[in-house]
Amino acid sequence: MILLIYMQRIEREWIMDLIRLIEEKSAGIAVVGMGYVGLPTAAVLAAKGFRVVGADINPSVVACVNRGTSPINEPGLEELVREAVANGKLKAVLSAREAARESDVVIVVVQTPIDEEKRPDLSALKSALRDVAVALRKEHLVIIESTIPPGTTRNVIAPILEESGLKAGEDFFLAYSPERAIPTRTLAEIQSNARIVGGVNRASSQVAAALYRQITSGDVYEESVEVVEVVKLIENTFRDVNIALANELALLCETIGVDVIKAINLANKHPRVNLHMPGAGVGGHCLPKDPYFLINEAERHGLKLKVIEAARERNDSMPLHVLSKIEEALKSKGKSVSQAKVAVLGIAYKGNTDDVRLSPAEPVIKSLMNRGVDVISHDPYAKHDFGGRFSNDLKEVVAGADVVVILTDHDEYKKLRLEEIKPLLKRDAVVIDGRRVLSRENVEKVGLRYAGIGC
Ligand SMILES: NC(=O)c1ccc[n+]([C@@H]2O[C@H](COP(=O)([O-])OP(=O)(O)OC[C@H]3O[C@@H](n4cnc5c(N)ncnc54)[C@H](O)[C@@H]3O)[C@@H](O)[C@H]2O)c1
Repeated sequence: MILLIYMQRIEREWIMDLIRLIEEKSAGIAVVGMGYVGLPTAAVLAAKGFRVVGADINPSVVACVNRGTSPINEPGLEELVREAVANGKLKAVLSAREAARESDVVIVVVQTPIDEEKRPDLSALKSALRDVAVALRKEHLVIIESTIPPGTTRNVIAPILEESGLKAGEDFFLAYSPERAIPTRTLAEIQSNARIVGGVNRASSQVAAALYRQITSGDVYEESVEVVEVVKLIENTFRDVNIALANELALLCETIGVDVIKAINLANKHPRVNLHMPGAGVGGHCLPKDPYFLINEAERHGLKLKVIEAARERNDSMPLHVLSKIEEALKSKGKSVSQAKVAVLGIAYKGNTDDVRLSPAEPVIKSLMNRGVDVISHDPYAKHDFGGRFSNDLKEVVAGADVVVILTDHDEYKKLRLEEIKPLLKRDAVVIDGRRVLSRENVEKVGLRYAGIGC
């Protein structure tokens, strides 16, 4: 009994010591994986006063950060990285082991994609964890921010870290706290969104929550790790299903001659309706893959998630719908597909970002090329061609085009100078608005034809 009380007191002191280090900002923090989430996280932590070591296996990312620049386009990030590197609060290294060795807290935020069979691919996460395990010591706090399938923290992550000989929850703290920030507003959202934290035991939740209270002004909720793993997947699945509903309504509205955007905007005036917007497809490193983490888990238990699967299918079908609109437009001009030139505006999956992962532009461009169409694409941020021609010069891209198709809601496209573009296009050209960024009236006013998703 006396021994138990003694052990509990030691444990309490140990928790309090790390919380004190965190609150005084003297805890060293390793961020493993410096991509779209990791680098903003590292930069914000450094701006808050922590000493941060970022690790990434990509040498160009490490070199870029150590030069005080950002390898990704995220508003405000470059300035924050420059300042943090200049004042010695942030540095980048190639090895997670080295970063973990220098730190008290290790945040792991590497990619967790799906494979070709749409099953979770945790290879990057496992490899990063094996590196961390080598440097793990007593009283370390390890936080996973990568999105993961249900049960992963306890059944996959803890055993890898325990190869160190230390026990999760007893010798080191282990928690899961998924990132919820949206690209283009990542820096503000990291510092203001509510945060959910799930530890493998109460002490792990407490210590991890203490860290997030230093980062965000939003509420920090502590729950079991099993609940938190599901929460993150519910959030993105909700958004994916909501968009699928909007897309389905868009298809219906096109058929019956109703403008879906007008209809959704008015429906959203209802106090309990909050429909997202339809579009040319769903991309990025979250919505097209996170629902599969739930679908796969359900399958393992003999359950079929019909609504979630149907939503994925509907959203994946939208680039093909854009394609059929392009073909329709060409047919109505009496033009054969193989003689046509199509200008694609927008390679990134989302407005004002350079992220092209799982972007709807890929299937659209590749299918057009397979049909023999002369395709050229443009993007103000992303520099990717998906195998076709690409240029940053908008005028060059639209010159001689029969069809201009907008696939990304970049601000630049919302402000498109139609009167300047019109003379460059073929006579009777069609604008296909896959993101509903232009008004039909404005397009038709300059003498162009307009076809948008859902109208
Ligand atoms: N992008 C988003 O908007 C977003 C939002 C919320 C959550 N998430 C989740 O966050 C996680 C990271 O997403 P991301 O978009 O930042 O991915 P990313 O691909 O942009 O970044 C991951 C980085 O980790 C690096 N990496 C891979 N293996 C490594 C290793 N062993 N050691 C060190 N570095 C390694 C990669 O080189 C890459 O730079 C994913 O699980 C994702 O689902 C992403």
